[in-house]
Amino acid sequence: MHVTHLSLADFRSYARVEVPLDPGVTAFVGANGQGKTNLVEAVGYLATLGSHRVSSDAPLVRMGAERAVIRAAVTQGERSQLVELELTPGRANRARVNRSSQVRPRDVLGIVRTVLFAPEDLALIKGDPGERRRFLDELITARSPRMAGVRSDYDRVLRQRNTLLKSAAMARRHGGRGMDLSTLDVWDQHLARVGAELLTQRTDLIATLQPLTDKAYDQLAPGGGPVALEYRSATEEPGIGSRDEAYEALLAALAGVRKQEIERGVTLVGPHRDDLVLKLGRLPAKGYASHGESWSYALALRLASYDLLRSEGNEPVLVLDDVFAELDARRRERLAELVVPGEQVLVTAAVDDDVPGVLAGARFAVADGAVERV
Ligand SMILES: Nc1ncnc2c1ncn2[C@@H]1O[C@H](COP(=O)(O)OP(=O)(O)OP(=O)(O)O)[C@@H](O)[C@H]1O
Ligand SMILES: [Mg+2]
Repeated sequence: MHVTHLSLADFRSYARVEVPLDPGVTAFVGANGQGKTNLVEAVGYLATLGSHRVSSDAPLVRMGAERAVIRAAVTQGERSQLVELELTPGRANRARVNRSSQVRPRDVLGIVRTVLFAPEDLALIKGDPGERRRFLDELITARSPRMAGVRSDYDRVLRQRNTLLKSAAMARRHGGRGMDLSTLDVWDQHLARVGAELLTQRTDLIATLQPLTDKAYDQLAPGGGPVALEYRSATEEPGIGSRDEAYEALLAALAGVRKQEIERGVTLVGPHRDDLVLKLGRLPAKGYASHGESWSYALALRLASYDLLRSEGNEPVLVLDDVFAELDARRRERLAELVVPGEQVLVTAAVDDDVPGVLAGARFAVADGAVERV
């Protein structure tokens, strides 16, 4: 798929901007702080209902405005669709598809698909497990948009179970008789049922992503690997494959920590505590890999995601935000060659020279809130 038109109102630094887009490569070039990333951030938001830079919506709304609107015309094969999201901080987003407002924001997922690589992705390697869980879960949702529902079910069940555990912990501290444990059993089953679905999707994704990441890393940094992706979980044991097995394993793990959970008032096992361990050679990348290696690793994960989504049919838009300036000349050329056949590639760069020559395509100059084709 590709975006044929992007239109923003009161999004970030833009009061209003209209950007017609073609398939192939488009580069946005302009000095620091002129609004290049803001443009691609908006495209990414349509694909994930979130920003790759901030976790809340408030910074996305132009200072002084009440709400932001992101609108995109999208073409997939013969089909064209118009998607629109209205962001009002503190309130639920509103969505429209082909001018109909009978849709939930979640229904927009899957219309725009992106793989976005940005400097923030270094956190995939160096950051907390939450960064890597989000990476996995966003890719799972891009592969199968109905997983957005499973993710929000899991979050809801987890919140409710934590509330229950917290009140149990309080009751204990105040010398109460404790709680009716049969209620907790029911929540264990809910958590294990939804958690098992998330867990099996993640392990399945990792198995598929592993060879693709290894290949991408080798293309970027020949001979520098191998890389290995390992899922780390209190419940994941070798051989856990089916959802039923994951369900049983989760239930058993919950039973095993129940005493501590009641003492601490929080859910201690489940997909929300898991991690994806990224190895480079025999060492974990986190804490060991060099800056350049970490950068290549993060990029390899995104290129592998791109490969995966393309191979499954609906080609995503590839977004490369400020990527080329960080790479040496050889890696720049390699990356450019890898991405040039993409259906649509959006690139941002501070200066023209950072965009490799093979990425010939449309250029826009971004300055003072204006985006102009050059
Ligand atoms: N909610 C907002 N309201 C008004 N201005 C905003 C808002 N959010 C961000 N900005 C402004 O947008 C600018 C940043 O835009 P952006 O991140 O797109 O820059 P950039 O062109 O990608 O720069 P760089 O080359 O440094 O990455 C900043 O000047 C910032 O003050
Ligand atoms: Mg930027």
